[in-house]
Amino acid sequence: MNRPADPHEMIQAPSLQGPHEGYMPGFANDFETEALPGALPQGMNSPQKCNYGLYGEQLSGTAFTADVPERTWCYRIRPSVKHSHRYEKIDLPHWKSAPCVDPDVISLGQYRWDPVPHSDEGLTWLTGMRTMTTAGDVNTQVGMASHIYLVTETMEDSYFFSADSELLVVPQEGRLRFATELGIIDLAPQEIAIIPRGLVYRVEVLEGPCRGFVCENYGQKFELPGRGPIGANCMANPRDFKAPVAAFEDRETPSTVTIKWCGQFHETKIGHSPLDVVAWHGNYAPYKYDLTTYCPVGAILFDHPDPSIFTVLTAPSGVPGTANIDFVLFRERWMVAEKTFRPPWYHKNIMSELMGNIYGQYDAKPQGFVPGGMSLHNMMLPHGPDKNAFEGASNSNLGPEKLENTMSFMFETRFPQHLTAFAAKEAPLQDDYIDCWSDIEKKFDGTPGLK
Ligand SMILES: [Fe+2]
Repeated sequence: MNRPADPHEMIQAPSLQGPHEGYMPGFANDFETEALPGALPQGMNSPQKCNYGLYGEQLSGTAFTADVPERTWCYRIRPSVKHSHRYEKIDLPHWKSAPCVDPDVISLGQYRWDPVPHSDEGLTWLTGMRTMTTAGDVNTQVGMASHIYLVTETMEDSYFFSADSELLVVPQEGRLRFATELGIIDLAPQEIAIIPRGLVYRVEVLEGPCRGFVCENYGQKFELPGRGPIGANCMANPRDFKAPVAAFEDRETPSTVTIKWCGQFHETKIGHSPLDVVAWHGNYAPYKYDLTTYCPVGAILFDHPDPSIFTVLTAPSGVPGTANIDFVLFRERWMVAEKTFRPPWYHKNIMSELMGNIYGQYDAKPQGFVPGGMSLHNMMLPHGPDKNAFEGASNSNLGPEKLENTMSFMFETRFPQHLTAFAAKEAPLQDDYIDCWSDIEKKFDGTPGLK
């Protein structure tokens, strides 16, 4: 067998040329891909013997009996039982899981942070993860956590999987490679990636330093939102989601696999790379999505819809219409509504809203919410435009206007979000954020007329 000269180079399946090179288009398709010809059995899943001496193994992301089971058949050099040995607990003190309620922290409030700065310390995907908030309970598979990652170093002979969660990765700075069991995803700002629960991978730095946001979803997988009266087009189109083609490495070297399981981290030592899936087929796979392909829909005469109109992906909870997590995108778009206060209105919300800025300026907060920064408007806490945004939007000439140089997002959950000690005491919290509304004037004086 040809071994790659570069130890991190994986043997990859031939794929489509052009923009899909290395990837297969479609959301949750039933894909099939093989890195060596004939490695994928045809017409059956469990042949008595597999080609190349591979082992057949199923990875199930849903219960066997789910209405639409999500599972992938892998044909690999060794079965996964060879990729785990005895487990030892390890400590990753900055990666927290719900429930994580610190008695010394007040989560009730409106909070905003400047970007968490890089340090001189070399950090990997595992050591560089900084939990900001947690919600729900990882043990009952409800809720989420939000993290900032600061990554400067490639995981060398080191691999990871989370049994707890699916990870939604939103890069803000730098480029990362996710070398997974099912293939390679290269990720840059303005793209997102979803890494499914249970999938083993290594994260490499392609261009550092790297910073970004992660939504760790403890619950049901992300899916495309129901489109209702919008119909089949616009928003996120299924063809723009891309799953990787099969890729594998046949590398025998002492290696470590770290496992996140019920909020705790464990290590197991093995003698080879676990990224040894030569061929696979199924609908449970990692994927990426280019946020610039998101086609926003909005008001074209007056008023504006709820921000749910900008939902890219939604992770359902047990209550129909009430998401465990919505991933919502605020990107460049035209504002044309007549006689309308155009920025997001003042509101209180049962859902809790964690926002991050990928680049540019957010229309409801012209200052203070900067790229790499985050804000949190927790359950039933009021928020809305600051004085400048309010006065500007109330008095501007309402011609068609393009919001440019802006890309922010929201992780919105039905559960209240609790700040970690890191978020409250170490991260660059803006102590004066609450003051952004302090100079909003009382205009009412009992007389009618526009003020
Ligand atoms: Fe809000």
